[in-house]
Amino acid sequence: MFSRGTMKKVFSGKKFRLGPVHQRRSIIEAESPGSEDFLHSGRDEEMLSLSEAMVEQAVGYMAVPLGLAGPLLIDGRQYMIPLATEEPSVIAACSFAGGLTARHGGISTSASDPVMAAQIFIEDKGGLGSAGIEIIQAAQESIKDKLMPMLLSMENRGGGWRGMETDWMESERIFFVTLKIDVRDAMGANLLNSAAERVRPLLEQLTGGQVLMAILSNRCENRIARAAFSLPVKSLLRPGSGGRETAERIVKAARIARKNSDRAVTHNKGIMNGISALALAACNDTRAIEAAAHAYACRDGQCRGLSEYWLEGNVLHGSLEMPLPFAVTGGAVDFHPTSRWALALLDNPDARGLSRIAAAVGLMQNLAALRALVCEGIQEGHLSLHARRLSFSAGARGEDIGAYTQVIRREAIRSRSAAMNRFKRWKKEHAPL
Ligand code: HMG
Repeated sequence: MFSRGTMKKVFSGKKFRLGPVHQRRSIIEAESPGSEDFLHSGRDEEMLSLSEAMVEQAVGYMAVPLGLAGPLLIDGRQYMIPLATEEPSVIAACSFAGGLTARHGGISTSASDPVMAAQIFIEDKGGLGSAGIEIIQAAQESIKDKLMPMLLSMENRGGGWRGMETDWMESERIFFVTLKIDVRDAMGANLLNSAAERVRPLLEQLTGGQVLMAILSNRCENRIARAAFSLPVKSLLRPGSGGRETAERIVKAARIARKNSDRAVTHNKGIMNGISALALAACNDTRAIEAAAHAYACRDGQCRGLSEYWLEGNVLHGSLEMPLPFAVTGGAVDFHPTSRWALALLDNPDARGLSRIAAAVGLMQNLAALRALVCEGIQEGHLSLHARRLSFSAGARGEDIGAYTQVIRREAIRSRSAAMNRFKRWKKEHAPL
Protein backbone atom coordinates (compact mmCIF):
# COMPACT_ATOMS: atom_id res chain seq x y z
CA MET A 1 0.00 0.00 0.00
CA PHE A 2 1.09 3.57 -0.63
CA SER A 3 1.00 6.34 1.90
CA ARG A 4 -1.22 9.21 0.77
CA GLY A 5 1.86 11.33 0.12
CA THR A 6 3.60 8.72 -2.01
CA MET A 7 0.43 8.00 -3.96
CA LYS A 8 0.09 11.69 -4.80
CA LYS A 9 3.77 12.04 -5.71
CA VAL A 10 3.88 8.98 -7.94
CA PHE A 11 0.54 8.95 -9.73
CA SER A 12 -0.51 12.54 -10.06
CA GLY A 13 0.94 15.28 -12.11
CA LYS A 14 1.71 15.69 -15.77
CA LYS A 15 4.56 13.15 -15.84
CA PHE A 16 2.16 10.30 -15.10
CA ARG A 17 -0.80 11.69 -17.00
CA LEU A 18 0.78 12.86 -20.23
CA GLY A 19 3.69 10.47 -20.65
CA PRO A 20 3.53 7.41 -22.90
CA VAL A 21 2.16 4.13 -21.55
CA HIS A 22 5.70 2.74 -21.12
CA GLN A 23 6.63 5.64 -18.87
CA ARG A 24 3.64 4.94 -16.66
CA ARG A 25 4.54 1.25 -16.57
CA SER A 26 8.11 2.10 -15.52
CA ILE A 27 6.76 4.23 -12.69
CA ILE A 28 4.54 1.35 -11.63
CA GLU A 29 7.45 -1.12 -11.81
CA ALA A 30 9.53 1.12 -9.59
CA GLU A 31 6.88 2.25 -7.17
CA SER A 32 4.08 -0.29 -6.99
CA PRO A 33 4.92 -3.38 -4.94
CA GLY A 34 3.65 -6.68 -6.38
CA SER A 35 3.35 -5.37 -9.93
CA GLU A 36 5.60 -8.05 -11.51
CA ASP A 37 2.85 -10.49 -12.55
CA PHE A 38 0.66 -7.72 -13.90
CA LEU A 39 3.46 -6.16 -15.95
CA HIS A 40 4.70 -9.54 -17.13
CA SER A 41 1.29 -10.85 -18.20
CA GLY A 42 0.38 -7.94 -20.46
CA ARG A 43 3.29 -6.97 -22.69
CA ASP A 44 1.75 -7.07 -26.14
CA GLU A 45 2.80 -3.82 -27.85
CA GLU A 46 -0.26 -3.67 -30.10
CA MET A 47 -2.57 -4.07 -27.11
CA LEU A 48 -0.66 -1.46 -25.11
CA SER A 49 -1.03 1.03 -27.97
CA LEU A 50 -4.69 0.13 -28.33
CA SER A 51 -5.27 0.68 -24.61
CA GLU A 52 -3.58 4.04 -24.85
CA ALA A 53 -5.79 5.01 -27.76
CA MET A 54 -8.93 3.95 -25.92
CA VAL A 55 -8.63 5.25 -22.34
CA GLU A 56 -6.86 7.89 -20.28
CA GLN A 57 -3.81 7.13 -18.12
CA ALA A 58 -3.55 3.63 -19.62
CA VAL A 59 -1.08 1.39 -17.81
CA GLY A 60 -1.89 -1.90 -19.51
CA TYR A 61 -4.80 -4.09 -20.42
CA MET A 62 -6.85 -6.74 -18.71
CA ALA A 63 -7.10 -9.99 -20.64
CA VAL A 64 -10.54 -11.43 -19.88
CA PRO A 65 -10.98 -14.99 -21.17
CA LEU A 66 -12.90 -15.26 -24.43
CA GLY A 67 -14.70 -18.52 -25.18
CA LEU A 68 -17.19 -19.80 -27.71
CA ALA A 69 -20.56 -21.08 -26.58
CA GLY A 70 -22.78 -23.19 -28.74
CA PRO A 71 -23.75 -24.02 -31.27
CA LEU A 72 -27.06 -22.20 -30.71
CA LEU A 73 -29.80 -22.63 -33.31
CA ILE A 74 -31.33 -19.16 -33.64
CA ASP A 75 -34.07 -18.55 -36.20
CA GLY A 76 -32.92 -21.57 -38.16
CA ARG A 77 -29.22 -20.62 -38.26
CA GLN A 78 -26.41 -22.08 -36.21
CA TYR A 79 -24.15 -19.73 -34.28
CA MET A 80 -21.08 -20.10 -32.14
CA ILE A 81 -21.32 -17.23 -29.66
CA PRO A 82 -18.20 -15.34 -28.50
CA LEU A 83 -18.46 -14.71 -24.75
CA ALA A 84 -15.90 -12.73 -22.74
CA THR A 85 -16.21 -13.65 -19.08
CA GLU A 86 -14.15 -14.40 -16.01
CA GLU A 87 -16.78 -16.79 -14.63
CA PRO A 88 -16.48 -20.55 -15.10
CA SER A 89 -19.60 -22.51 -16.16
CA VAL A 90 -21.24 -19.62 -18.07
CA ILE A 91 -20.07 -20.91 -21.46
CA ALA A 92 -20.77 -24.54 -20.55
CA ALA A 93 -24.28 -23.59 -19.39
CA CYS A 94 -25.07 -21.64 -22.56
CA SER A 95 -23.76 -24.51 -24.69
CA PHE A 96 -25.77 -27.00 -22.66
CA ALA A 97 -29.09 -25.17 -23.11
CA GLY A 98 -28.17 -24.31 -26.72
CA GLY A 99 -27.69 -28.02 -27.47
CA LEU A 100 -30.95 -28.92 -25.74
CA THR A 101 -33.06 -26.41 -27.66
CA ALA A 102 -31.24 -27.04 -30.97
CA ARG A 103 -32.47 -30.63 -30.87
CA HIS A 104 -36.07 -29.33 -30.67
CA GLY A 105 -36.35 -26.53 -33.21
CA GLY A 106 -34.02 -23.97 -31.63
CA ILE A 107 -34.77 -20.46 -30.48
CA SER A 108 -36.93 -17.91 -32.29
CA THR A 109 -36.25 -14.22 -31.84
CA SER A 110 -37.48 -10.77 -32.83
CA ALA A 111 -36.52 -7.17 -32.16
CA SER A 112 -38.14 -3.76 -32.39
CA ASP A 113 -36.59 -0.85 -34.26
CA PRO A 114 -33.58 0.59 -32.43
CA VAL A 115 -35.22 3.77 -31.18
CA MET A 116 -33.32 5.70 -28.50
CA ALA A 117 -34.39 8.72 -26.46
CA ALA A 118 -32.63 11.85 -25.18
CA GLN A 119 -33.92 14.17 -22.47
CA ILE A 120 -33.56 17.93 -22.25
CA PHE A 121 -34.49 19.49 -18.91
CA ILE A 122 -35.45 23.19 -19.07
CA GLU A 123 -35.88 25.27 -15.92
CA ASP A 124 -39.01 27.43 -16.10
CA LYS A 125 -37.59 30.92 -15.70
CA GLY A 126 -40.45 32.65 -17.53
CA GLY A 127 -43.24 31.41 -15.23
CA LEU A 128 -45.01 29.44 -17.96
CA GLY A 129 -45.77 26.46 -15.74
CA SER A 130 -47.37 23.45 -17.39
CA ALA A 131 -48.68 25.72 -20.20
CA GLY A 132 -45.13 25.56 -21.58
CA ILE A 133 -45.78 21.98 -22.69
CA GLU A 134 -48.08 23.18 -25.49
CA ILE A 135 -45.65 25.89 -26.58
CA ILE A 136 -42.82 23.36 -26.93
CA GLN A 137 -44.94 20.71 -28.63
CA ALA A 138 -46.29 23.29 -31.11
CA ALA A 139 -42.69 23.94 -32.18
CA GLN A 140 -42.06 20.27 -32.99
CA GLU A 141 -41.49 20.91 -36.72
CA SER A 142 -38.93 23.68 -36.02
CA ILE A 143 -37.12 21.37 -33.59
CA LYS A 144 -37.12 18.60 -36.18
CA ASP A 145 -35.83 21.01 -38.87
CA LYS A 146 -33.02 22.09 -36.57
CA LEU A 147 -31.97 18.46 -36.17
CA MET A 148 -32.38 17.36 -39.78
CA PRO A 149 -28.84 18.23 -40.97
CA MET A 150 -27.32 15.98 -38.32
CA LEU A 151 -29.91 13.22 -38.88
CA LEU A 152 -29.66 13.14 -42.66
CA SER A 153 -27.30 10.17 -42.94
CA MET A 154 -29.37 8.26 -40.36
CA GLU A 155 -32.55 9.08 -42.35
CA ASN A 156 -30.84 7.74 -45.49
CA ARG A 157 -30.18 4.46 -43.67
CA GLY A 158 -33.87 4.17 -42.77
CA GLY A 159 -33.55 5.59 -39.25
CA GLY A 160 -33.65 9.15 -37.91
CA TRP A 161 -36.42 11.30 -36.39
CA ARG A 162 -39.21 9.39 -34.57
CA GLY A 163 -40.91 12.27 -32.77
CA MET A 164 -40.79 14.02 -29.42
CA GLU A 165 -42.74 14.35 -26.20
CA THR A 166 -42.84 17.11 -23.60
CA ASP A 167 -43.72 16.89 -19.92
CA TRP A 168 -43.71 19.08 -16.83
CA MET A 169 -42.24 18.25 -13.41
CA GLU A 170 -44.11 20.49 -10.98
CA SER A 171 -41.89 19.74 -7.96
CA GLU A 172 -38.78 21.03 -9.78
CA ARG A 173 -40.63 23.54 -12.01
CA ILE A 174 -38.95 22.03 -15.01
CA PHE A 175 -40.01 20.98 -18.51
CA PHE A 176 -38.48 17.92 -20.02
CA VAL A 177 -38.44 17.17 -23.69
CA THR A 178 -37.83 13.61 -24.90
CA LEU A 179 -36.42 13.30 -28.42
CA LYS A 180 -36.79 9.92 -30.13
CA ILE A 181 -34.35 8.84 -32.82
CA ASP A 182 -33.93 5.54 -34.65
CA VAL A 183 -30.17 4.96 -34.52
CA ARG A 184 -30.04 1.89 -36.80
CA ASP A 185 -26.70 0.08 -36.16
CA ALA A 186 -25.22 2.44 -33.57
CA MET A 187 -25.68 2.45 -29.80
CA GLY A 188 -26.74 6.03 -30.31
CA ALA A 189 -25.23 7.83 -27.30
CA ASN A 190 -23.18 10.27 -29.38
CA LEU A 191 -25.98 11.07 -31.80
CA LEU A 192 -28.61 11.48 -29.09
CA ASN A 193 -26.36 13.65 -26.92
CA SER A 194 -25.41 15.83 -29.89
CA ALA A 195 -29.07 16.17 -30.93
CA ALA A 196 -30.14 17.11 -27.40
CA GLU A 197 -27.42 19.75 -27.16
CA ARG A 198 -28.20 21.15 -30.59
CA VAL A 199 -31.77 22.09 -29.67
CA ARG A 200 -30.85 23.66 -26.32
CA PRO A 201 -30.81 27.27 -27.60
CA LEU A 202 -34.10 26.87 -29.47
CA LEU A 203 -35.82 25.42 -26.37
CA GLU A 204 -34.49 28.25 -24.21
CA GLN A 205 -35.73 30.78 -26.75
CA LEU A 206 -39.19 29.16 -26.91
CA THR A 207 -39.70 29.02 -23.15
CA GLY A 208 -37.57 31.83 -21.79
CA GLY A 209 -36.11 29.14 -19.54
CA GLN A 210 -32.63 27.75 -19.02
CA VAL A 211 -31.52 24.26 -19.97
CA LEU A 212 -30.25 22.41 -16.91
CA MET A 213 -28.94 19.35 -18.77
CA ALA A 214 -29.32 17.45 -22.02
CA ILE A 215 -28.43 13.76 -22.23
CA LEU A 216 -29.64 10.44 -23.63
CA SER A 217 -31.70 8.12 -21.46
CA ASN A 218 -30.29 4.62 -20.99
CA ARG A 219 -33.75 3.28 -20.30
CA CYS A 220 -34.10 2.08 -23.93
CA GLU A 221 -37.68 0.87 -23.44
CA ASN A 222 -38.28 1.27 -27.18
CA ARG A 223 -35.39 -1.00 -28.14
CA ILE A 224 -36.74 -4.40 -27.19
CA ALA A 225 -35.59 -7.88 -28.22
CA ARG A 226 -37.38 -11.17 -27.59
CA ALA A 227 -36.42 -14.83 -27.63
CA ALA A 228 -38.51 -17.96 -27.16
CA PHE A 229 -38.18 -21.75 -27.28
CA SER A 230 -40.37 -24.83 -26.83
CA LEU A 231 -39.13 -28.17 -25.49
CA PRO A 232 -40.88 -31.49 -25.02
CA VAL A 233 -40.70 -32.19 -21.28
CA LYS A 234 -39.13 -35.58 -21.93
CA SER A 235 -36.01 -33.79 -23.23
CA LEU A 236 -35.37 -32.70 -19.62
CA LEU A 237 -35.21 -36.26 -18.35
CA ARG A 238 -32.05 -36.77 -16.26
CA PRO A 239 -30.91 -39.61 -14.01
CA GLY A 240 -32.82 -39.08 -10.78
CA SER A 241 -35.37 -36.55 -12.09
CA GLY A 242 -38.28 -36.99 -14.47
CA GLY A 243 -38.67 -34.62 -17.43
CA ARG A 244 -42.11 -33.36 -16.50
CA GLU A 245 -41.16 -32.85 -12.88
CA THR A 246 -38.10 -30.83 -13.94
CA ALA A 247 -40.21 -28.72 -16.30
CA GLU A 248 -42.76 -28.02 -13.56
CA ARG A 249 -39.99 -27.03 -11.15
CA ILE A 250 -38.48 -24.67 -13.76
CA VAL A 251 -41.89 -23.02 -14.27
CA LYS A 252 -42.30 -22.62 -10.52
CA ALA A 253 -38.78 -21.19 -10.10
CA ALA A 254 -39.44 -18.61 -12.83
CA ARG A 255 -42.81 -17.73 -11.29
CA ILE A 256 -41.11 -17.11 -7.94
CA ALA A 257 -38.65 -14.74 -9.68
CA ARG A 258 -41.68 -12.80 -10.99
CA LYS A 259 -43.03 -12.41 -7.46
CA ASN A 260 -40.01 -12.12 -5.16
CA SER A 261 -37.58 -9.26 -5.84
CA ASP A 262 -34.60 -10.77 -4.01
CA ARG A 263 -34.85 -13.86 -6.17
CA ALA A 264 -35.56 -11.76 -9.31
CA VAL A 265 -32.25 -9.93 -8.97
CA THR A 266 -30.33 -13.22 -8.99
CA HIS A 267 -32.50 -14.70 -11.74
CA ASN A 268 -31.75 -11.68 -13.92
CA LYS A 269 -28.07 -11.73 -13.02
CA GLY A 270 -28.03 -15.24 -14.50
CA ILE A 271 -29.58 -13.92 -17.73
CA MET A 272 -26.96 -11.16 -17.82
CA ASN A 273 -24.14 -13.71 -17.39
CA GLY A 274 -24.47 -14.42 -21.09
CA ILE A 275 -25.65 -11.04 -22.35
CA SER A 276 -22.90 -9.02 -20.64
CA ALA A 277 -20.29 -11.54 -21.81
CA LEU A 278 -21.48 -11.16 -25.41
CA ALA A 279 -21.56 -7.38 -25.00
CA LEU A 280 -17.97 -7.37 -23.75
CA ALA A 281 -16.78 -9.67 -26.55
CA ALA A 282 -18.39 -7.30 -29.05
CA CYS A 283 -16.97 -4.24 -27.22
CA ASN A 284 -20.46 -2.91 -26.57
CA ASP A 285 -21.38 -0.68 -23.64
CA THR A 286 -21.99 -3.32 -20.95
CA ARG A 287 -23.10 -0.72 -18.40
CA ALA A 288 -25.74 0.72 -20.71
CA ILE A 289 -27.11 -2.73 -21.50
CA GLU A 290 -27.18 -3.74 -17.84
CA ALA A 291 -28.77 -0.45 -16.73
CA ALA A 292 -31.54 -0.85 -19.33
CA ALA A 293 -32.13 -4.50 -18.36
CA HIS A 294 -32.46 -3.79 -14.65
CA ALA A 295 -34.70 -0.75 -15.20
CA TYR A 296 -36.98 -2.88 -17.41
CA ALA A 297 -37.11 -5.58 -14.74
CA CYS A 298 -38.36 -2.90 -12.28
CA ARG A 299 -40.72 -1.12 -14.66
CA ASP A 300 -43.85 -1.66 -12.54
CA GLY A 301 -42.08 -0.65 -9.33
CA GLN A 302 -40.95 -4.12 -8.26
CA CYS A 303 -37.96 -6.02 -9.56
CA ARG A 304 -39.25 -9.06 -11.46
CA GLY A 305 -37.64 -11.90 -13.42
CA LEU A 306 -37.26 -10.96 -17.07
CA SER A 307 -38.12 -14.41 -18.43
CA GLU A 308 -41.31 -16.45 -18.36
CA TYR A 309 -41.86 -20.21 -18.47
CA TRP A 310 -45.07 -22.15 -18.84
CA LEU A 311 -46.31 -25.62 -19.70
CA GLU A 312 -48.78 -26.53 -22.42
CA GLY A 313 -49.49 -30.26 -22.31
CA ASN A 314 -46.10 -31.92 -22.47
CA VAL A 315 -44.27 -28.91 -23.85
CA LEU A 316 -42.22 -26.45 -21.82
CA HIS A 317 -42.19 -22.92 -23.26
CA GLY A 318 -39.74 -20.22 -22.27
CA SER A 319 -39.49 -16.60 -23.35
CA LEU A 320 -37.46 -13.51 -22.61
CA GLU A 321 -38.24 -9.89 -23.44
CA MET A 322 -35.96 -7.01 -22.54
CA PRO A 323 -34.26 -3.90 -23.90
CA LEU A 324 -30.99 -4.82 -25.62
CA PRO A 325 -29.29 -1.69 -26.99
CA PHE A 326 -26.53 -3.52 -28.87
CA ALA A 327 -24.51 -1.77 -31.58
CA VAL A 328 -22.38 -3.03 -34.46
CA THR A 329 -20.72 0.27 -35.28
CA GLY A 330 -19.36 3.27 -33.41
CA GLY A 331 -17.65 3.51 -30.03
CA ALA A 332 -15.11 0.74 -29.52
CA VAL A 333 -17.21 -1.78 -31.48
CA ASP A 334 -15.50 -1.56 -34.86
CA PHE A 335 -12.20 -0.38 -33.37
CA HIS A 336 -11.09 -3.33 -31.26
CA PRO A 337 -9.73 -6.38 -33.17
CA THR A 338 -11.55 -8.81 -30.86
CA SER A 339 -14.96 -7.24 -31.37
CA ARG A 340 -14.40 -7.05 -35.13
CA TRP A 341 -13.66 -10.76 -35.14
CA ALA A 342 -16.55 -11.53 -32.78
CA LEU A 343 -18.97 -9.80 -35.14
CA ALA A 344 -17.48 -11.52 -38.18
CA LEU A 345 -17.97 -14.88 -36.42
CA LEU A 346 -21.65 -13.96 -36.00
CA ASP A 347 -21.75 -13.19 -39.74
CA ASN A 348 -21.76 -9.42 -39.21
CA PRO A 349 -25.36 -8.95 -38.06
CA ASP A 350 -26.97 -5.52 -37.95
CA ALA A 351 -27.70 -4.07 -34.50
CA ARG A 352 -31.16 -5.63 -34.34
CA GLY A 353 -29.69 -8.98 -35.38
CA LEU A 354 -27.08 -8.77 -32.62
CA SER A 355 -29.71 -7.88 -30.02
CA ARG A 356 -31.76 -10.90 -31.13
CA ILE A 357 -28.72 -13.15 -30.69
CA ALA A 358 -28.18 -11.56 -27.26
CA ALA A 359 -31.78 -12.31 -26.27
CA ALA A 360 -31.30 -15.94 -27.29
CA VAL A 361 -28.07 -16.13 -25.27
CA GLY A 362 -29.76 -14.61 -22.20
CA LEU A 363 -32.64 -17.08 -22.39
CA MET A 364 -30.30 -20.07 -22.79
CA GLN A 365 -28.23 -18.91 -19.84
CA ASN A 366 -31.39 -18.65 -17.76
CA LEU A 367 -32.75 -22.04 -18.86
CA ALA A 368 -29.47 -23.78 -17.96
CA ALA A 369 -29.23 -22.05 -14.59
CA LEU A 370 -32.87 -22.81 -13.67
CA ARG A 371 -32.53 -26.44 -14.74
CA ALA A 372 -29.40 -26.87 -12.65
CA LEU A 373 -30.95 -25.05 -9.67
CA VAL A 374 -34.08 -27.21 -9.55
CA CYS A 375 -32.18 -30.46 -10.19
CA GLU A 376 -28.69 -31.16 -8.89
CA GLY A 377 -28.07 -27.59 -7.59
CA ILE A 378 -25.74 -24.98 -9.02
CA GLN A 379 -22.60 -25.93 -7.14
CA GLU A 380 -22.05 -29.33 -8.71
CA GLY A 381 -21.53 -28.10 -12.29
CA HIS A 382 -19.87 -24.93 -11.06
CA LEU A 383 -17.34 -26.68 -8.85
CA SER A 384 -16.38 -29.25 -11.44
CA LEU A 385 -15.52 -26.39 -13.84
CA HIS A 386 -13.86 -24.45 -11.02
CA ALA A 387 -11.43 -27.36 -10.79
CA ARG A 388 -9.55 -26.07 -13.86
CA ARG A 389 -8.89 -22.79 -12.08
CA LEU A 390 -7.75 -24.65 -8.99
CA SER A 391 -5.42 -26.71 -11.18
CA PHE A 392 -3.85 -23.51 -12.59
CA SER A 393 -3.55 -21.93 -9.12
CA ALA A 394 -1.80 -25.04 -7.86
CA GLY A 395 0.90 -24.55 -10.51
CA ALA A 396 -0.27 -26.62 -13.49
CA ARG A 397 0.46 -25.18 -16.90
CA GLY A 398 -0.16 -26.30 -20.49
CA GLU A 399 -1.24 -29.94 -20.79
CA ASP A 400 -0.88 -30.44 -17.04
CA ILE A 401 -3.95 -28.24 -16.45
CA GLY A 402 -6.38 -30.76 -17.96
CA ALA A 403 -4.62 -33.80 -16.50
CA TYR A 404 -4.37 -32.37 -12.99
CA THR A 405 -8.00 -31.11 -13.17
CA GLN A 406 -9.04 -34.77 -13.42
CA VAL A 407 -7.15 -35.48 -10.20
CA ILE A 408 -8.84 -32.56 -8.43
CA ARG A 409 -12.28 -33.77 -9.54
CA ARG A 410 -11.61 -37.41 -8.74
CA GLU A 411 -10.28 -36.65 -5.29
CA ALA A 412 -12.83 -33.84 -4.66
CA ILE A 413 -10.07 -31.37 -3.74
CA ARG A 414 -11.68 -28.04 -2.85
CA SER A 415 -9.05 -25.70 -1.36
CA ARG A 416 -6.07 -24.02 -3.00
CA SER A 417 -3.62 -25.21 -0.36
CA ALA A 418 -4.76 -28.84 -0.70
CA ALA A 419 -4.52 -28.53 -4.49
CA MET A 420 -0.97 -27.14 -4.24
CA ASN A 421 0.24 -29.87 -1.90
CA ARG A 422 -1.29 -32.59 -4.00
CA PHE A 423 0.16 -31.02 -7.18
CA LYS A 424 3.70 -31.27 -5.83
CA ARG A 425 3.22 -34.98 -5.19
CA TRP A 426 1.46 -35.48 -8.53
CA LYS A 427 4.34 -33.81 -10.38
CA LYS A 428 6.83 -36.11 -8.66
CA GLU A 429 4.72 -39.15 -9.56
CA HIS A 430 4.66 -37.99 -13.18
CA ALA A 431 8.23 -36.78 -13.46
CA PRO A 432 10.05 -38.19 -16.49
CA LEU A 433 12.34 -41.08 -15.54
P1 HMG B 1 -23.69 -31.47 -17.00
O1 HMG B 1 -25.00 -32.10 -17.22
O2 HMG B 1 -22.80 -32.02 -15.95
O3 HMG B 1 -22.90 -31.43 -18.36
O4 HMG B 1 -23.92 -29.92 -16.75
P2 HMG B 1 -22.42 -32.62 -19.25
O5 HMG B 1 -20.99 -32.85 -18.95
O6 HMG B 1 -23.37 -33.78 -19.20
O7 HMG B 1 -22.55 -31.97 -20.70
C1 HMG B 1 -23.82 -31.60 -21.23
C2 HMG B 1 -23.61 -30.45 -22.20
O8 HMG B 1 -23.25 -29.26 -21.48
C3 HMG B 1 -22.49 -30.69 -23.19
O9 HMG B 1 -22.99 -31.41 -24.27
C4 HMG B 1 -22.10 -29.27 -23.56
O10 HMG B 1 -23.01 -28.74 -24.48
C5 HMG B 1 -22.27 -28.55 -22.24
P3 HMG B 1 -21.98 -32.40 -25.11
O11 HMG B 1 -21.02 -31.49 -25.81
O12 HMG B 1 -21.31 -33.24 -24.07
O13 HMG B 1 -22.91 -33.12 -26.00
N1 HMG B 1 -21.01 -28.57 -21.49
C6 HMG B 1 -19.91 -27.89 -21.85
N2 HMG B 1 -19.66 -27.09 -22.89
C7 HMG B 1 -18.44 -26.53 -22.97
N3 HMG B 1 -17.47 -26.77 -22.06
C8 HMG B 1 -17.68 -27.54 -21.01
C9 HMG B 1 -18.94 -28.16 -20.87
N4 HMG B 1 -19.49 -28.97 -19.95
C10 HMG B 1 -20.74 -29.22 -20.36
N5 HMG B 1 -16.71 -27.77 -20.13
C11 HMG B 1 -23.35 -27.64 -16.69
C12 HMG B 1 -22.85 -29.07 -16.53
C13 HMG B 1 -22.26 -26.71 -16.23
C14 HMG B 1 -23.68 -27.39 -18.16
C15 HMG B 1 -24.66 -27.49 -15.84
O14 HMG B 1 -24.36 -27.85 -14.52
C16 HMG B 1 -25.23 -26.13 -15.89
O15 HMG B 1 -25.86 -25.73 -16.83
N6 HMG B 1 -25.07 -25.36 -14.80
C17 HMG B 1 -25.47 -23.97 -14.72
C18 HMG B 1 -24.25 -23.14 -14.62
C19 HMG B 1 -24.50 -21.66 -14.56
O16 HMG B 1 -25.57 -21.16 -14.74
N7 HMG B 1 -23.44 -20.96 -14.29
C20 HMG B 1 -23.44 -19.54 -14.15
C21 HMG B 1 -22.87 -19.16 -12.84
S1 HMG B 1 -24.07 -19.32 -11.57
C22 HMG B 1 -24.87 -17.79 -11.68
O17 HMG B 1 -24.22 -16.79 -11.65
C23 HMG B 1 -26.30 -17.68 -12.05
C24 HMG B 1 -27.37 -18.14 -11.12
O18 HMG B 1 -27.25 -17.63 -9.81
C25 HMG B 1 -28.65 -17.62 -11.77
C26 HMG B 1 -29.89 -17.98 -11.04
O19 HMG B 1 -29.85 -18.13 -9.80
O20 HMG B 1 -30.94 -18.07 -11.72
C27 HMG B 1 -27.38 -19.61 -11.02
